[in-house]
Amino acid sequence: MYILYTILASLVSFFVLKWLKKRRCCTDLKRLDGKTVLITGGNSGVGKETAIALALRGARVVIACRDACKAEKALREIKFRSHSLNVLYMELDLANLRSVREFCKSFLQKEKRLDILINNAGMPSVLDWTDDGFSMCFGVNHLGHFLLTNTLLPCLKESAPSRVVTLTCSNYKYQKLDFQDLNYNLLPFFTYCRSKLANIYFTQELARITEGKGVTAYAVHPGFVQSGWTRHYSVLFRMLMQVVMWMFFVPCEVGAQTVVYCAVSDEVARLSGGYFSDCRPGTLRPFARDSGVAKKLWEASERLVKLGGQ
Ligand SMILES: NC(=O)c1ccc[n+]([C@@H]2O[C@H](COP(=O)([O-])OP(=O)(O)OC[C@H]3O[C@@H](n4cnc5c(N)ncnc54)[C@H](OP(=O)(O)O)[C@@H]3O)[C@@H](O)[C@H]2O)c1
Repeated sequence: MYILYTILASLVSFFVLKWLKKRRCCTDLKRLDGKTVLITGGNSGVGKETAIALALRGARVVIACRDACKAEKALREIKFRSHSLNVLYMELDLANLRSVREFCKSFLQKEKRLDILINNAGMPSVLDWTDDGFSMCFGVNHLGHFLLTNTLLPCLKESAPSRVVTLTCSNYKYQKLDFQDLNYNLLPFFTYCRSKLANIYFTQELARITEGKGVTAYAVHPGFVQSGWTRHYSVLFRMLMQVVMWMFFVPCEVGAQTVVYCAVSDEVARLSGGYFSDCRPGTLRPFARDSGVAKKLWEASERLVKLGGQ
């Protein structure tokens, strides 16, 4: 009998917890009419749900994606679900720095302003190389976005008050950066953790250099989300993860809530450089709050992407 009660209590708490997890949402209902939002990787998962949520608020939404077919399909869905036609796609491959530069050139020619930049696109733990010879995780998740943000920074400043929201992951805590080997590409999970730690340092340094200039920056852990990231892995792993994701991960709409919160909420205006999760400020491990490391990473990234020497 005792065992039965324990099993029942565990099941009830499991489903209550699951229900509670689904309840988190951004309660700020601010409209974004007249504002322009750019979302990298807006064709799937958290990025697509963020695009829908922000288009629903009246923003002009540009999704920057590497695959035209996927982007067109996502565009149709975003327009349908947001009842907005003010959504468009532009080509961007963050694994190729030339593509990032070309994207920025064309974005700045076509768009008058940029109010919210969402650095969402991301590669999970895979061992691969970008076209420029960087490890895929570090190259796409950090360096591509680093170059993108810096190139668009003058436009963000002109559109002030503006925001940069960068997707990170709470798994950042399992690794530290090794400046002797920033291009580390040995154990897949660790390459991912390092790139997500880089996203946090990037946000902190960006907040420091834009202080008083009307641009604020936020790092967001969206929670563990039932998105399509497992498509990069074997069928067996995908099947296993389906079960795990169903039990413990949140839907993409929920994952997008903290991103939307940081993009629109007045509550975060004074918290530039912060780390957020569950629509509230999160606590970082002390090593991830080291401004010296953040500055060092920024300078190293400037050299790696040849910022200024374009
Ligand atoms: N899912 C989670 O549990 C979780 C947890 C913590 C943090 N995050 C972070 O949340 C963000 C969104 O992830 P998600 O879960 O929504 O995954 P997802 O569904 O796999 O979306 C990732 C997006 O990034 C795009 N992308 C990948 N490489 C790219 C490149 N080289 N150039 C341009 N776009 C590229 C993908 O495009 P394609 O469709 O063409 O591949 C896709 O649109 C990521 O930064 C991820 O690290 C996710």
